[in-house]
Amino acid sequence: MCGIVGYIGNNESVPVLLEGLSKLEYRGYDSAGIAVMTNEGMKVRKFKGRLKNLEEGIKHENMVSSIGIGHTRWATHGEPSDVNAHPHTNINASIAVIHNGIIENYMEIKEYLIEKGIEFKSETDTEVIAHLVDEYYEGNLLEAVNKAVDRMEGAYAIAVIAKDSPDEMVAVRKDSPLIVGLGEGENFIASDIPALLKYTRDVLLIENEETVHLTKDKVVIYDDLGREVNRDIFKVTWDVEAAEKDGYEHFTIKEIHEQPKGVKETLLRRLDKDNNINLDGIKLTKEDLDGINKVYIVACGTAYHAGLIGKYAIEKFANIPVEADIASEFRYRDPFIDEHTLFIAVSQSGETLDTLASLREAKRKGARIMSVVNVVGSSVARESDDVFYTWAGIEIGVASTKAYTTQLVAMYLIALRMAEESGKMTHEEVSKVIEELKTFPEKLEKILENKDFIQKFADSQFNNERIVFMGRGLDVSVAHESSLKLKEISYINSFSIAAGELKHGTIALIEEGTLILALATQQKLFDKMLSNIKEVKARGAHVVSIAKEGDTAVEKVSDEVIYIPETMDELTPILSVVPMQLFAYYVSLARGNDVDKPRNLAKSVTVE
Ligand code: AGP
Repeated sequence: MCGIVGYIGNNESVPVLLEGLSKLEYRGYDSAGIAVMTNEGMKVRKFKGRLKNLEEGIKHENMVSSIGIGHTRWATHGEPSDVNAHPHTNINASIAVIHNGIIENYMEIKEYLIEKGIEFKSETDTEVIAHLVDEYYEGNLLEAVNKAVDRMEGAYAIAVIAKDSPDEMVAVRKDSPLIVGLGEGENFIASDIPALLKYTRDVLLIENEETVHLTKDKVVIYDDLGREVNRDIFKVTWDVEAAEKDGYEHFTIKEIHEQPKGVKETLLRRLDKDNNINLDGIKLTKEDLDGINKVYIVACGTAYHAGLIGKYAIEKFANIPVEADIASEFRYRDPFIDEHTLFIAVSQSGETLDTLASLREAKRKGARIMSVVNVVGSSVARESDDVFYTWAGIEIGVASTKAYTTQLVAMYLIALRMAEESGKMTHEEVSKVIEELKTFPEKLEKILENKDFIQKFADSQFNNERIVFMGRGLDVSVAHESSLKLKEISYINSFSIAAGELKHGTIALIEEGTLILALATQQKLFDKMLSNIKEVKARGAHVVSIAKEGDTAVEKVSDEVIYIPETMDELTPILSVVPMQLFAYYVSLARGNDVDKPRNLAKSVTVE
């Protein structure tokens, strides 16, 4: 996710752009920049780091202008740097563009432009847009942008200005959000509402595949067939903070709801039409794999729980033994590592010190380093030989949710790629799993539709201090993740357990009123789970089971059942965790906690 903002009107553009970017930093903040038309021509100023670097960098410059665009970045293609920051321009900086999204076919366009002699400055996908618009620009900016966009595939919200068309701006929306703000003698564009609230509450919500042509006095919307579209003005009543959360009460619940999109982005952009998996250049050839005799997956907290699923997936699909380890333990136990070791670090922030220290230890001992990271250009990413970026978008809530499910997608894709390269699975078998994964965005949406039932259930249990999560097989790892979610945002001293372990001591804790969340999604262990549920029921527990649609036998032994859509046993964690995330969120809400910033915790633990 990135933030874009644009201004055209009778007032100064720079203050508006900076104000807008300051309200969009929650969408991404690894670099920021603006492009404005001044009496000295187009000026483009952009800096790595937070917005204050940009503000510092321009404060002594003549940036007097009545038209400009601005961008705050969440890097996907190209490390955070001054040159990779937006806006991007054509060769002579007569065209400037800002972009939120991903141009999937940017390499193909880039090769086409390079063949025509275009020299690229950045590593980004966005830069191709500026050169493409320039390719078609003959004085009509709207026409040039339309022709360029016709060549582009992917998700984008863009805004374009041109030195020779200083009285107009063109913006286009495809999948990424875009809005227009209306003023007196001035008009605005932005990724979303917070950027404009200081100047206007009269907004036009731009729909998918629409193009907007703005002057300071007029805004025209065109549909994908070039027909003018009338759009009612949306009067914004939100305050700024509510707007940053897109109308959700907390970032945590917003991010839980962003999981269908995150899973889709992380999955689909790595598949071609034949379901061949492209791991962004990560080489995992048969020779590479033949040279590996040990795999570690090392992480902390939720990322560790994702690593447990990764262990299962690589062992199940690729038949390669894997050790999943907690980073704070791994780094001190002098693990066996040599040049035949593959070390996989998993980290949302890419800055967790224990994980980074473990990576450095593995690297020092000769291991090949791969990482699964959500923050582009973070320390873990920079120090890895190969990086698989999860495209979850920025995650603000301390409780990791969408990062976790996109980490699981990463684990499955890596495991399937290993399986096919090593010959353990045919392409047809891999493709069958991929086809099932492709149904997950829709299946996740279906689970989220059930949130009212889960909230009602959470409201009935929020004062229960005895809450246990149990499961078997893959469900044990999901039980651990579910318990962590509840602990960190509700402060309830919950615990998780392999259900088969109950009889070895823990069942002594089960008493009247103990709430048990029983994850029973694994077919081959389903009957065993039914027995475990009966065991705890016999001791007075209140049991809510999580099972796949159709497994109605669980109703006979449970007080309530939360069903998830049918899918392969191996893939259920991506689905079964979501009702548990919602449960934790609503319990925390009912207890009046600061859900997004729970006590004692930080979003990234960069200390020992
Ligand atoms: C998860 O909800 C917690 N916020 C925490 O356990 C987190 O997963 C852990 O600190 C690892 O963070 P990372 O993924 O940024 O490395």
